[in-house]
Amino acid sequence: MAEPNENALMEKIVSLCKRRGFIYQSSEIYGGINGFWDYGPLGAELKRNVKELWWNDMVRQRDDVVGLEATIIMSPQIWKASGHVDTFSDPMCDCLLTKKRFRADQIEPQSGIVYRYQGAFSGDQNTPSPFQLAFERYLKETGHKKIEEINKPLLEGLLTEELKTKENYWQYKGTEKSSVERILSEATRLEEYAVLLPAGKPPESARKLAMKFYEQRGILQPVLLGERTEKIENTTRFNPENGSLLTEPRPFNLMFKTFVGPVESEDNVAYLRPETAQAIFAQFKNVLETSRQKVPFGIAQIGKAFRNEVTPRNYTFRSREFEQMELEFFIKPDEVVEAISGKVASAADVAQTSGLCNSKAGSLCHENWGWGAWHKYWVEERIAFYEGIGLPRNSLVEYWQKPEELAHYARATVDILYKFPFSKRDEKGELMGEELEGIAARSDFDLSQHERFSGKPMGVFDEELRAAWGKLDEAKKTELSKCYYEARLKYLTKTGVVEQAKAEKEAKEDADGLAKGQYIPHVIEPSAGVDRLILALICNAYHEDQMPDEKGKLETRVVLKFHPRVAPIKVAVLPLLKNKPELVKKAREVRDVLRPHMNIFYDDAGAIGRRYRRQDEAGTPFCVTIDFDTLGEKPELKDTVTMRYRDDGRQERLAIGKLLNWLLPKIR
Ligand code: GAP
Repeated sequence: MAEPNENALMEKIVSLCKRRGFIYQSSEIYGGINGFWDYGPLGAELKRNVKELWWNDMVRQRDDVVGLEATIIMSPQIWKASGHVDTFSDPMCDCLLTKKRFRADQIEPQSGIVYRYQGAFSGDQNTPSPFQLAFERYLKETGHKKIEEINKPLLEGLLTEELKTKENYWQYKGTEKSSVERILSEATRLEEYAVLLPAGKPPESARKLAMKFYEQRGILQPVLLGERTEKIENTTRFNPENGSLLTEPRPFNLMFKTFVGPVESEDNVAYLRPETAQAIFAQFKNVLETSRQKVPFGIAQIGKAFRNEVTPRNYTFRSREFEQMELEFFIKPDEVVEAISGKVASAADVAQTSGLCNSKAGSLCHENWGWGAWHKYWVEERIAFYEGIGLPRNSLVEYWQKPEELAHYARATVDILYKFPFSKRDEKGELMGEELEGIAARSDFDLSQHERFSGKPMGVFDEELRAAWGKLDEAKKTELSKCYYEARLKYLTKTGVVEQAKAEKEAKEDADGLAKGQYIPHVIEPSAGVDRLILALICNAYHEDQMPDEKGKLETRVVLKFHPRVAPIKVAVLPLLKNKPELVKKAREVRDVLRPHMNIFYDDAGAIGRRYRRQDEAGTPFCVTIDFDTLGEKPELKDTVTMRYRDDGRQERLAIGKLLNWLLPKIR
């Protein structure tokens, strides 16, 4: 089931999405399945539009990007090379009482009083165990009146040194000395446990929880041992919902595992891809050889990805099955750019001089761009894309990860955040935003990993580099070789697998390759989530306003103000009355003119005002009404329609003959 909604606005959005057929819970009739969502008729259109706009912008409108459509299940070696098998995990801990699972890094720090217990002893008076009777007698004799006085070391001492040697304590009916250990372990539980209570809350609630904990471990009517209290600040070790201690965090791999073929053995393990990116690296050489591209160029892919998230949350924001739109844009290493162009333009250089000129149309202005310039270029491109589909600039945040946040192979990563209603707020009360997309400069890490794991060369040959290298003076050759050598050595030694001497030899060979025109491309990766973007578009579009109804009375209206480019339905075609054949005939003619070019909705049911409201909730930007003037009641208006604008309810007359050309530029 879905997590509870974080605020009232999200509740309204979730309810609208269900009511209007944007998003449903997967498998709802069976109670749902956490972290999985289905898109209904309007959601499916919205999603399709978003993916097409991305594909058009990133692939079709560019000379330097081509597409790929790879399989979801690939060789498991890919995930070993990428690091996902070893390191793609979240720290996870479980509530010791309820077993509920939490992501350790998402637990809000809490403060209060911790009640610690060393164990518990069975205090069941109705059916005292032989050990209990023996122990109680022993306690009496040794002067310990209350079991609660016993602390763990003392109890352990009693059990191991004294009690066990006093044979007469075990002379009970049916109890043999050999079973002392068993009885002992049944009647006591020396397992530490703790409960966090907010300051001021009575200790009974902690004791109640602790007794439950020991009861679950087989202790009847537990008597708690060794209670201690301690003030604690900002701890994340307790269940925020009930105060119970959590298990220590342990890594939980997020990949969904399956088996290929009929035998469920380790040899047949495969994974559902957790990102679309790796297929692009694995197919890099094939694409290079078959597409007539040369570096710099990109490979784009849209497709499903799967992550067994510990805590799916915030509606579709963190799902277990989702879609990504990823581009791997391969660039020359800076040493290669410098060898060819004489100097490397950084992001700052480019911004100061000509600006980040558009590289879309195959412009040569990026010839001397280094990785920094390319990275900044893609950040700007991606923000422009979001603005172009209706997310205002002030709803987005460009977050540059701090050095300590970067993945070890990344030189820089920018996250584009959207200010969702459920985002956290900063100290000024401003929404901080949640990640829509990450744009990472990933160096040559991925291709190098696949080269090492597959044994297949992933480098490219660049004739321009070979020719330019020959013309460099010796000092420059030495300088650039040294830089390249050091970067390669750093990569090879950082992975920890290659021995120092071997790494030095390999790094030298790689650096020597420059003279032959060979290098491993670096990559800039803009990686976006389709579902998060859909959610951002819906949140951004959601508005409530006041609009007069047919009688002129103001009423609250819910409207989704989608940009026409993403709107699921572009135009609703509405005959004023259903029972006037001439109106219906004309409306169908209009529908048939528009339908080949866009998604339209024909609706003749109900009062026109109610039909408008339905389209407002669906986010349809334009409604076309065919009325009696269309038929020529006022001759000057013959063959015109009413165009009604969703956002402000404004209406104007447009000629049917001009309708298509009027609409097309607005929706593309
Ligand atoms: N290849 C890089 C990569 O996968 P990521 O930051 O893990 O990077 C990229 O994922 C994007 O995929 C995120 O910015 C987000 O939009 C989307 N995404 C990641 N995990 C997701 C999840 N559990 N549910 C929905 N979208 C997710």
